[in-house]
Amino acid sequence: MKKSSPVSRSGRFAGGPAADVAAFSESISFDWRLWRHDIRGSKAHAAMLQRIGLLTRQELQELLAGLDQIAAEIEAGRFRWKAELEDVHMNIEAELTRRVAAGAKLHTGRSRNDQVALDMRLWLRDEIRALDGEVQSLQRALVELARREEDVIIPGYTHLQRAQPVYLAHHLLAYVEMLARDRERLDQCFDRVNVCPLGCGALAGTTLPLDREWVARLLGFVDERGRPRLCQNSMDAVSDRDFAVEFCSVAALLAVHLSRLAEDLVLWASAEFNFLSIADAYTTGSSLMPQKKNPDVAELTRGKSGRVIGNLVALLALLKGLPMTYNRDLQEDKERLFDSVDTVRATTRLCAAMLRHSRANRKACAAAAADPALLATDLADYLVRKGMPFRQAHHVVGQLVALAEQSGRKLNQLTPAELQALDPRLGPDALEVFDLKRALLRRQVPGSPGAKQVQRQLARWERLLK
Ligand code: ARG
Repeated sequence: MKKSSPVSRSGRFAGGPAADVAAFSESISFDWRLWRHDIRGSKAHAAMLQRIGLLTRQELQELLAGLDQIAAEIEAGRFRWKAELEDVHMNIEAELTRRVAAGAKLHTGRSRNDQVALDMRLWLRDEIRALDGEVQSLQRALVELARREEDVIIPGYTHLQRAQPVYLAHHLLAYVEMLARDRERLDQCFDRVNVCPLGCGALAGTTLPLDREWVARLLGFVDERGRPRLCQNSMDAVSDRDFAVEFCSVAALLAVHLSRLAEDLVLWASAEFNFLSIADAYTTGSSLMPQKKNPDVAELTRGKSGRVIGNLVALLALLKGLPMTYNRDLQEDKERLFDSVDTVRATTRLCAAMLRHSRANRKACAAAAADPALLATDLADYLVRKGMPFRQAHHVVGQLVALAEQSGRKLNQLTPAELQALDPRLGPDALEVFDLKRALLRRQVPGSPGAKQVQRQLARWERLLK
C-alpha cells in the first residue's frame, strides 16, 4: 500500500490526488473544529456496533481509549492534522487505525456523508445553546440600562423625525422583545437540528443491522419525552442542509436586529443627539483627529450584519442546483455556517458589554424631550375628548403648529386667546397637555410608553430574565 494514502482512496486508486487537487479540496483547515463532536459521534457509533455484535467488548475498549487519547492530544494542541487526509473525519480515523487495529472497523455501516451531517448537528446544538445564553445576557444588559435610566424621557422617532415622547426604557425594551423572538426562533431551529442522521450511510443506509434508535438516544437526539428522533429518509439525511440554512436565517435576523440597535447607538453617541455616552473602553480614537471618540463596536456590529446576511444567501445559492444526494459542494456549507455562528456570538457579546458600559446623558435627553411639538397629538386627543372628530382635530392642531412656526414660537407658547380664536373647544386647560410627565401618565393602553406600562414591562422582563 502506498504510504499515507488517504483512507478513502485505498484500493481503488493508484495513488494520491495531484498536489493542487488536495490543496483545493481539503477541508481540514476549517472543519478541524468539529473534532470534539466527531469523536463523540464515533464513540457512540462504536458502542452501537459492539451492542449489535460487530465489535467485541475488547475492540470497543481499544477504540474508546484510542479516541480519548486522540482527543487529549488535540485538546493539548499536540495532534498533527494532515491536509492530505482531507478532513477531520479521515484525520481522526486514520490516526486511530494507525494506533488501534480495531480502528479499521469503526467505519462499519457509516459514511462520511452521514458522519459529517451528524457532526454538524451535534456541533450546532451546542452553539445554539451557547448563543441563546449570549442573547439572554444582551437582553439583561438592555433591561439593566433601562432600569438605571428608568426616568429618562426621549423623543421617539418615525422617519427619523421627532414624533412622540417615550421613556428611554421603552425604546430599549423594544429590542428586548425582538431578541425574545430571536430566541424563540433559535429554540425552534434547535428542534430541527436535533434529529439524528447516523445510520443513513452514504445515501442508502446499510445491510448491517444498525440500531439507529439506540445510538440516537445515546447522542441525545430525543424529544421532550425521551423518544429518539431519527432522520426518516436516508437520502434526505445526507443531502439535507435545511438546518444550517435555518440557523443562518435566524442568525441573519438576529444580526439585523443588532445592526438596528447599533445604528441607534451610533446616532445617540453623536454630538447632534448626544443621548448616550459609551465608556472609553468600548470606543476608539482617530489616528488623525485628537478629539474623536468613535463608536466602533456599534459600527462593526452594523457592518458585520452584512456578512451574516451574505452567509445565508451563499448557503441558499449553494443548495439550489444540487441533485440528490450528497455532493462535494456541500463541503462549502461549513465556513458559512461557522462564520455566522462566530460573528453573531461575538457581536451579541460585545453589544451587551458596551451597553453595560453606557449611560444616558440626562440633560441632552431632557432638552430633546422638552420639545412641545412631541405632544401635538395629545392636543388633538384633547379635542377628541371634547367631541371633535379626530380628522378635524388633526386639522385644527395643524393650524396651530403653522401659527406657532410662523410667529417663531413653540407650540406651548401660543396664548389661550389664540387657541380660543381658532376653536372655542380649545379651553383654558388645553395648554396643560404639554406637561410631559403627565402626558406620559396618560398613556395607559397596553404596550404604550406610559409610565405605568413601562414599569410593568420592566418588572416583567426582570422577572423573565432572572
Ligand atoms: N469534507 C466533507 C464535507 O465537508 C466530508 C464528507 C465527504 N464525503 C465524501 N463523500 N467525499 O462535506
